[in-house]
Amino acid sequence: MNRPAPGWTFPRVFAHRCGGALAPENTLSGLRIAAAMGCRAVEFDVMLSGDNTPWLIHDETLERTSDGIGPVCQTSDDALGRLDAGLRYHRAFTGEPLPTLAAAAALCLELGLMVNVEIKPAAGHEAVTGEIVATRITELWRGAPLPIASSFSEVALEAARQAASQLPLGYLSVKPPPDWLHRLNALGAYSLHCAVGELDDAVLDAAKANGVPVLCYTVNDRPAADALFKRGVAAVFSDRIEKFRTGT
Ligand code: G3P
Ligand code: MG
Repeated sequence: MNRPAPGWTFPRVFAHRCGGALAPENTLSGLRIAAAMGCRAVEFDVMLSGDNTPWLIHDETLERTSDGIGPVCQTSDDALGRLDAGLRYHRAFTGEPLPTLAAAAALCLELGLMVNVEIKPAAGHEAVTGEIVATRITELWRGAPLPIASSFSEVALEAARQAASQLPLGYLSVKPPPDWLHRLNALGAYSLHCAVGELDDAVLDAAKANGVPVLCYTVNDRPAADALFKRGVAAVFSDRIEKFRTGT
């Protein structure tokens, strides 16, 4: 089974949604703060606009994290480019743009941040999102270490695999199903990503026996993270990156 690996070693901590809780989620300010806090890797969420362009955003709708309204997948690039993605977090971030994947890629490359791109398709857009995001990743990171792309959608991951045969993939599941290893192998995925509360020793044992790194979200407590590393977890996604400033 071909399971393309990232050309970089996973650090212990990935800043969740760019800068964790220290910045508006999925923003360029978050990337800068993660780098300034000493993070070597970040995770962010990517969804397609109405023009099929990949943008950084978590929800299918704009209201929670920006001053826009309505579904992301029905909003044009022009309209998304006019939104404020900072003021809902704090007025100090007023004027923060909603970033495209292209803008985030350029900044991650400049800052030396490794990336987990979470492919976050709107319902009904799974295959096209996987295909376009995977294709854009290989273009934007050409000549540099590729991000690892993950998704809760196996349809999106399958489309990503078809579009980019060498792209490292993460099999992302809240709770790994009993046949998770079979599904991961079928996709040629490299790592298993799951909710920390759903992780059990049987999963960790099977992962270790098969050389599959396990990553957990969301871990905001340093002793809890250290206990997970002792159990064999490779890395955690955290909103509290300031707690991991030394030794990771
Ligand atoms: O990729 C790990 C984690 O980000 C998944 O959950 O909802 O924060 O995207 P969510
Ligand atoms: Mg995510």
